[in-house]
Amino acid sequence: MVHGAANNVYTKPYKAGNIVEWCRDHDVWYLHIDLEIPEVFLEEAEAVYDAGFFVEHRTCDTLKFDNEKEVIDQVSKRHDPSSPRGGNGWYSSAIHSFVHEDAKDTGMGWYHTMNPSGHGLTEENVKWGWTEAAELAPETKRWLEEFPHKHYRRLRWMLLKPGSGIIDHDDASAERKQEGRIRNIAGAINLAIHHPEKCYLRRSDTRQELPYKNFGALWFDNGTDHEVLNYSDENRYIMIMHGGFNKERKELMKKSLVKQFGKDVLKEIDV
Ligand SMILES: [Fe+2]
Repeated sequence: MVHGAANNVYTKPYKAGNIVEWCRDHDVWYLHIDLEIPEVFLEEAEAVYDAGFFVEHRTCDTLKFDNEKEVIDQVSKRHDPSSPRGGNGWYSSAIHSFVHEDAKDTGMGWYHTMNPSGHGLTEENVKWGWTEAAELAPETKRWLEEFPHKHYRRLRWMLLKPGSGIIDHDDASAERKQEGRIRNIAGAINLAIHHPEKCYLRRSDTRQELPYKNFGALWFDNGTDHEVLNYSDENRYIMIMHGGFNKERKELMKKSLVKQFGKDVLKEIDV
């Protein structure tokens, strides 16, 4: 039985490059990426936080709790209007983002942590680039510049504070939903900067946890319903990398797929 295939029209063999479709049809919601990030990422993320560059993020989806049991009772209540929201435990800061096209430079893009429309702008009237926060994170910036694709959009640190949860949600845009592309494993790369032990990001349906390993990287399909919880006493930092999809990124994804499922999987995908 191929899970998640009911709403898809793709037929096998998959055409070259259709890793995204293959993952969608096989309900594969993460892939390990064969790379490690330098440990200085954590030091620099903390420096950016200490300098006040983080802004509250989607507080309407955030929960605050006093003990583990309380949040475990609450975090899966996406459809329950009585579920308490507005926890203020979720923060974000952009090292690479956008500003209005008339701005002098892209330095102030650090607080543009949502898409342009989320800040009253449009794709047509913004320009993209490194932000002031990058000055406090030179090694992070250098690593990102060397990463094999150069079409960055938002590159953000995400911080979930201790005692906070993010309620069951998916991150597919209205456009993705309209086009039937809710599931998309290539949408973003997650870098685990510091994911404490008493912390999880899990699917809401299967309760399977995303296997974060500190200083590791994963493709994560944010079209799945998922929920996040930090019941440790440490800040959880990850970085979400959004950007285009090019040849190098596709190669990286192919390697990830082979590492997880063995090389025979490529026969199925016909790459
Ligand atoms: Fe999410």
